[in-house]
Amino acid sequence: MAVVAPINLILLSLFIFMVYMKLRPTPPVAYPKSKPTVFRTFTPRTLLPFNGIGDCPVYLAVNGRVFDVSAGRNFYGPGGPYANFAGRDASRGLACGSFDEGMLTKDLDGPLDTLQGLGAEEMDALRGWEERFQEKYLVVGKLVPAGSPEAEAAGR
Ligand code: HEM
Repeated sequence: MAVVAPINLILLSLFIFMVYMKLRPTPPVAYPKSKPTVFRTFTPRTLLPFNGIGDCPVYLAVNGRVFDVSAGRNFYGPGGPYANFAGRDASRGLACGSFDEGMLTKDLDGPLDTLQGLGAEEMDALRGWEERFQEKYLVVGKLVPAGSPEAEAAGR
């Protein structure tokens, strides 16, 4: 009986391994399921409809940046504890920890809230919120005042 030389065993194993590598099923390419994010320019008025009513996403602005907070619909969607911030510039309300109507920009076609009058502690609180939002949500745009060159350029 012929003795199989070790080299033949090694070559055979190598051959089987190569055939396996060639034929093994490859996992299908996974494409991201989320929609691509488009960075947009909002004014307080064009931000307003993004309040989560129906299938609409929920956006809010913090310090000039618009966040898509739809993942936190329980918080900001209709009936949520923070629904007052949906579609609005939430900066002052978050800084002051207040749900007062007066915290929100009243004139949607006027200037943005410059956060004048806020103290260091309130600005600190706002920065804290901003960091939290940055970690948790996507920035989908920026907030500019109506009638500003940026708003005009964006056709808003
Ligand atoms: C009675 C006082 C309050 C209670 C008991 C309360 C409770 C909570 C709880 C349990 C959470 C969820 C925390 C988490 O799971 O991440 C939360 C988040 C939050 N709270 Fe409050 N809260 C209070 C007051 C406020 C006030 C005064 C504001 C601002 C005006 C505020 C704004 C928020 C925001 C923006 C979030 C984050 C939601 C997110 O992650 O998107 N809360 N709060």
